[in-house]
Amino acid sequence: MCGIVGYIGNGNVYDVLIKGLQRLEYRGYDSAGIALLTPDNKINVYKTRGKVSALENFCRDKNTESRLGIAHTRWATHGEPTDNNAHPHYSEDGNLALVHNGTIENFKVLKDALQQHGVHFHTETDTEVLVQLIEFIKVQNSCSLLDAVREALKQVVGAYAMAVIDKNEPDQIIAARKSSPLVVGIGDDEMFLASDATPFVDHTKNVVYIDDEHIAIIRKGEPLRIVDFENKESKVSVKQLEWSISQLEKGGYPHFMLKEIFEQPETLRDCIRGRAVADQGKVILNGVLSNSEKFLDANRIIIVACGTSWHASLLGKSLIQQFCRIPVDVEYASEFRYSKPVITDKDVVIAVSQSGETADTLAAIQIARDKGAFVYGISNVVGSSIPRNTASGTYIHVGPEIGVASTKAFTGQVMVFTLLALQIAQLKGSMPQEEIQAMLDCICRMPEYVAEVLKLDKAIQRLSLIFTYARNFIYLGRGYSYPVALEGALKLKEISYIHAEGYPAAEMKHGPIALIDPGFPVIAVATKSATYDKTVSNLMECKARGAKVIVVATEGDEEINKIADCIIRVPAVRDVFSPITASVPLQLLAREVAILRGCDVDQPRNLAKSVTVE
Ligand code: AGP
Ligand code: GLU
Repeated sequence: MCGIVGYIGNGNVYDVLIKGLQRLEYRGYDSAGIALLTPDNKINVYKTRGKVSALENFCRDKNTESRLGIAHTRWATHGEPTDNNAHPHYSEDGNLALVHNGTIENFKVLKDALQQHGVHFHTETDTEVLVQLIEFIKVQNSCSLLDAVREALKQVVGAYAMAVIDKNEPDQIIAARKSSPLVVGIGDDEMFLASDATPFVDHTKNVVYIDDEHIAIIRKGEPLRIVDFENKESKVSVKQLEWSISQLEKGGYPHFMLKEIFEQPETLRDCIRGRAVADQGKVILNGVLSNSEKFLDANRIIIVACGTSWHASLLGKSLIQQFCRIPVDVEYASEFRYSKPVITDKDVVIAVSQSGETADTLAAIQIARDKGAFVYGISNVVGSSIPRNTASGTYIHVGPEIGVASTKAFTGQVMVFTLLALQIAQLKGSMPQEEIQAMLDCICRMPEYVAEVLKLDKAIQRLSLIFTYARNFIYLGRGYSYPVALEGALKLKEISYIHAEGYPAAEMKHGPIALIDPGFPVIAVATKSATYDKTVSNLMECKARGAKVIVVATEGDEEINKIADCIIRVPAVRDVFSPITASVPLQLLAREVAILRGCDVDQPRNLAKSVTVE
């Protein structure tokens, strides 16, 4: 994970880098560091354990005057998050400083070899080997930094986005990537590099996405150059960013997570705009329309994803199977990639990822492509690796999601799956047009329903107070509500550090009901659906054993009053749309509990937003 940033230009290098790190902090916040090349060609490295604010404090009395620099915010993979293991790392002779996002898988072999040549190592990280190797090659071959980087990267196995500076070649930053994201921003007389475009969106909208196994040569006063590991020049293709700065700020909310929860009516509107064309009775999902034969001829669809995106994918499976009668499997990308999957060119693989950079999902895509499957991406971040490595796809268009806990991306993904399933059903004729029309009408009203749900904010705040004693929660649901239960439990776990399990309600009696003792909180998603009565029976079983039952129920459902200790009422919608309305109060609940427990809502411990390592 980790975020890297670099800047060369006439602005205040230190300020640009610190601001950039703050924007990238969602990617990791174990430690932070900065390397600044001074006007007299020395490199000052400042780094410290903790967040970017700790680095700022550390730098307060330091010399930050510089002509260019690189910086890093870390999510440790190798070596504890100590001051010493923080990036940038420097070479033995102090000539080079380097930042890295990713993992160097063969670092031990390389380190042993370098140690045999007398190189000393000072940290426990895998990254240090990279900077020592580049320096070693540079000295051995008396070559330029660029040539040393090219040669070093040929020896490296693993994933990286890296940037390196050299005090002997002072007006340049060399950056490269393989399997970890790297973008370059081109401004007026200044250039930026970063893990994503957020650090420089207020400086320039011109962005270049660096391809895998390519090296960016960023030199003062020269146009950007890109070469491959054989030094072959590549075309520099400049794209325009669509983000605005306001999307990257909290806009008056105390946390990004709360802002993102409250944005959902708007983000759902953005997601369906031009796609759910209710007045013409049509779905227009271009990625599917332009590849209709792939979907219509598919023997089956396999969906690969991780975390919240996997929960949305479970809903995708139910929607596609129900609307289109095509068999669908859902796999954790991390399991899929090592499961020797049986895939043919008659399969369609859908990869789902908010960030578009999740390493396991990218690896799953590669496997599916190698086997000849048609691979479709559902992603949020425009220009990220997943859309660039898939044959076609759909953006969820919910805007930058910065809170580590995914919220608006989940509802956006579920909405895209609904549109995708309807689109295939319309093409295939597997659903009557009147039914499609009714679905489209409902889709267009979803933003209003979600706005209604958000009014529960205060009630949920009060409700959360009742459960401050609890250290375990069970979330239950059936059918479309089961993935909602899983997602609700994940939200609580990740931001409040309370143990929570999502379970299919009927499975309780096959084991987990043994956990229930008086006062045990059970959160049930029991909106009106075909399995409503069954869910109520399952809840009775918990209630009979002393559980405190909190139910997300449909407005107007009086029956539920008999068993529920607390009720969160959401608008009545068709059961296929209930995951969107029912997941929102669970997002709010998780946030309130986390606040009561004094947790860091946007940056929970041990986590990072974008999981770019295996
Ligand atoms: C959810 O709140 C988590 N942040 C996490 O589970 C996330 O959904 C997962 O890491 C997948 O990320 P992606 O959608 O960017 O691939
Ligand atoms: N492997 C490097 C470290 O542990 C970078 C980690 C990352 O990108 O998450 O410091």
